[in-house]
Amino acid sequence: MDVWNQSYEQLIFLQDRSIGLKAIIAIDSTKLGPSLGGCRFWQYASDEAAVLDALRLAQGMTYKSAISGLPFGGGKAVILSQPGQSSREILFRALGQHIQNLQGSYITGMDLGTDVSDMDWVRLETPYVTDVSGSLGAVNDFTAKMTAYGVFLGIQASLKTVYGSENMQQKIIAVQGLGKVGYQLCRYLKHAGAELVVTDVDSKRVKKVVEEFGAIPCKPDVIMRTPCDVFSPCALGGILNDFTLGQLDCSIVAGAANNQLAESRHGEKLHELGILYAPDYVINAGGIIVTSVELIGGDAATAQQKVEKINGTLMNVFQAADEHGISTAAAANRIVEQLLKG
Ligand code: NAI
Repeated sequence: MDVWNQSYEQLIFLQDRSIGLKAIIAIDSTKLGPSLGGCRFWQYASDEAAVLDALRLAQGMTYKSAISGLPFGGGKAVILSQPGQSSREILFRALGQHIQNLQGSYITGMDLGTDVSDMDWVRLETPYVTDVSGSLGAVNDFTAKMTAYGVFLGIQASLKTVYGSENMQQKIIAVQGLGKVGYQLCRYLKHAGAELVVTDVDSKRVKKVVEEFGAIPCKPDVIMRTPCDVFSPCALGGILNDFTLGQLDCSIVAGAANNQLAESRHGEKLHELGILYAPDYVINAGGIIVTSVELIGGDAATAQQKVEKINGTLMNVFQAADEHGISTAAAANRIVEQLLKG
């Protein structure tokens, strides 16, 4: 990858050998406000993979905030997990000091491999952090719950577009990944009368959803070829790729996972296949909406009202795609690019 010729605003490499800190902060855009996006603590196959991940995720955050009408840009931090590092307190406090030096152009929070206690360490060094103990999103897993709620509303909008009704009775929804978001999503879907087919690599999580919601269990390698109305990816990114697209036996793809399209051309392929794709950064914005409400000031009810707008945002994307005869992925990108230009 040619790191110099990308459109991001800043790419910051942090190294402190004395504590084993190797981290990257990617600021994609501050055009619409301070860049906002969580911190990942992850073991990468290579340094290049870490840079690529940070840049891709930061850009995704720009798009997610912009299309959701939030006054924030996009950023992301990654700490590379490696043997012999100092304690999490030392690593996250060091990261916090660097974030403080940026004076608010980047605000961090939780992501894969990080939790509330890590953000509490960051908070000791800087106020530019969310998801700390007692914050709106951290209490009772509110962030994941609102992400799931947004995905649920997005599935309703997708059903309405394809079938003319958002009614979920007798609709089969295949959910891949039953973690924080997938589990909550199943609860909403079951309540609305959907029939669930579910999978996870963790069999305990599958058992729980089968017992609580009467879902039908399925093997992880079978879920994508399961005949269903909606395939809902709530586990990994890159799940829509050359290998998997031909397997899909559904009318709609609508789920929480970030970066679902392995490459942007896979959005075009879904369009050609006649499968309605709910762009990931539109449908899974519930979490960032909670974070933004926390930063701007507001309570859980305000956050929920804002999450409810996801349905309308998605409908606008579907209408724009239809009007211009383009894929939903391209239509969403076009809307964001207009917002960033203005
Ligand atoms: P999580 O880590 O709680 O759950 C992920 C689940 O996927 C786990 O149960 C894991 O065992 C399962 N999984 C992993 N590989 C799998 C595979 N090959 N097949 C089936 N299951 C597999 O994560 P969480 O928070 O539920 O997030 C899910 C997705 O949604 C992630 O892609 C995340 O980036 C995205 N997302 C989450 C938000 C949030 O508020 N938590 C906000 C926006 C996006």
